[in-house]
Amino acid sequence: MRRPIAAGNWKMNNNIDESEKLIVDLKALVKDVEDVEIVVAPPFTALSMVSSRLIGTNIKLASQNMHFESSGAYTGEVSVNMLVDVGCEYVIIGHSERRAYFAETNDTVNKKLKTAMNNDLTPIVCVGETLAQRESDKAFEVIEGQIKQGLSGISVEDAEKIVVAYEPIWAIGTGKTATKEQAQEVHAFIRKTLTAMFSDNAAAAIRILYGGSVKPENVDELMLQEDIDGVLVGGAALKAESFARIVKFQ
Ligand code: PGA
Repeated sequence: MRRPIAAGNWKMNNNIDESEKLIVDLKALVKDVEDVEIVVAPPFTALSMVSSRLIGTNIKLASQNMHFESSGAYTGEVSVNMLVDVGCEYVIIGHSERRAYFAETNDTVNKKLKTAMNNDLTPIVCVGETLAQRESDKAFEVIEGQIKQGLSGISVEDAEKIVVAYEPIWAIGTGKTATKEQAQEVHAFIRKTLTAMFSDNAAAAIRILYGGSVKPENVDELMLQEDIDGVLVGGAALKAESFARIVKFQ
């Protein structure tokens, strides 16, 4: 009953020509996929072009970030209205790279989440622990804090629309995937935390994606886990063939 999501985060890669080639190739490869929500998050400079290429297709557009204020003197930032205007339906919020390099906190995540939801943009809220936190048995505590603070003040009704992405930082771009058991354990814990915060029904409806070195070789076993409802893919989303294979997980 939870419709799976395969989301590709292109990060700071691809100029307009490269983005165009990737999206044209991808849409041909996945055109017959019906039972998976396919999402791509190109860099800001390519959003407009990619958006025009996605009209009438089964692929949806996401932004990799946004500001929590609606407009104003915030040099260099991009607002929710601008993202809706360009055709985005999703926004990635609180990616670990934003937290590590751009001072994002659970508090800014929460502000962005509310702004996104007030404007009908579906948030993909990223959580996950560092290697040091995992090794010192702090992973669950850290993730619980990220969920409780990041999603605080959201109504039960709105909570159902949120997408959460569990991305262990030690698995991002490193080639080290969490094992399917490690991922499932955290996903089940996140769902339990969501049940306590909202309700059984809301927690059962929220999609929880796994991210961190997802590739064609490991997507199938990850997607078989009960609480893994999709994937957020970095490196392997930069090649149309590999992302298409991930979208067509078995
Ligand atoms: P990766 O990145 O697939 O390259 O590990 C995932 C992410 O950061 O979303």
